[in-house]
Amino acid sequence: TPFRFVTLLGSLRKASFNGIVARTLPDLAPEGVTITPLGSISAFPHYNQDVQDTDFPAEVLAMADQIRAADGVIIVTPEYNYSVPGVLKNALDWLSRVTPQPFAGKPLAIQTVSPGAIGGARAQYHLRQSLVFLDAFVLNRPEVMIGQATGKFDTERLELTDQKTRDFLVRQIMALAELARTVKTQPRSD
Ligand code: FNR
Repeated sequence: TPFRFVTLLGSLRKASFNGIVARTLPDLAPEGVTITPLGSISAFPHYNQDVQDTDFPAEVLAMADQIRAADGVIIVTPEYNYSVPGVLKNALDWLSRVTPQPFAGKPLAIQTVSPGAIGGARAQYHLRQSLVFLDAFVLNRPEVMIGQATGKFDTERLELTDQKTRDFLVRQIMALAELARTVKTQPRSD
């Protein structure tokens, strides 16, 4: 059976560069991998610990199920103010309170896209910090930080046009598949 990966998108913007990448990934999936976008995190309410036990939002529970069922997760997100966008952090905070916690032991890759020069590198390292606590198996390399995005996309047709970037994304997906294979053959004991 192929590895089934899901994508979690950190931008709510309609013409989002990161959204274009997330929607491109299913077409780039190599042999033996399928990639499916998760639903939008736009419907997630602001996290409030008071409601977590009584009134868990249905969309959070549904996404947690989808993540748990997946062989791996690809987070595709912008960098906001040198860090993780609030909407994405909010989503991770919600998902982290579902039991069993869906990211535990989950192979995970990070992709960031920015019009800026370093492609959201700073956000990646803040995101990695949270994912340490969530005990995800975050892929180390290759790191996908797509900088100077404006020249790599057709912003009218909402397409990722840069072939080198597309090839690089495939390389990371293959590395994630390799990580997923390792995790699968050495399952956690808990
Ligand atoms: C940004 N942007 C940005 N870019 C970057 O490389 N580093 C940063 O710290 C920030 N900070 C930031 C804060 C806020 C509030 C906004 C709205 C934007 C620019 C950002 O990369 C750009 O808007 C991207 O187009 C956002 O990604 P999407 O929505 O196109 O996927």
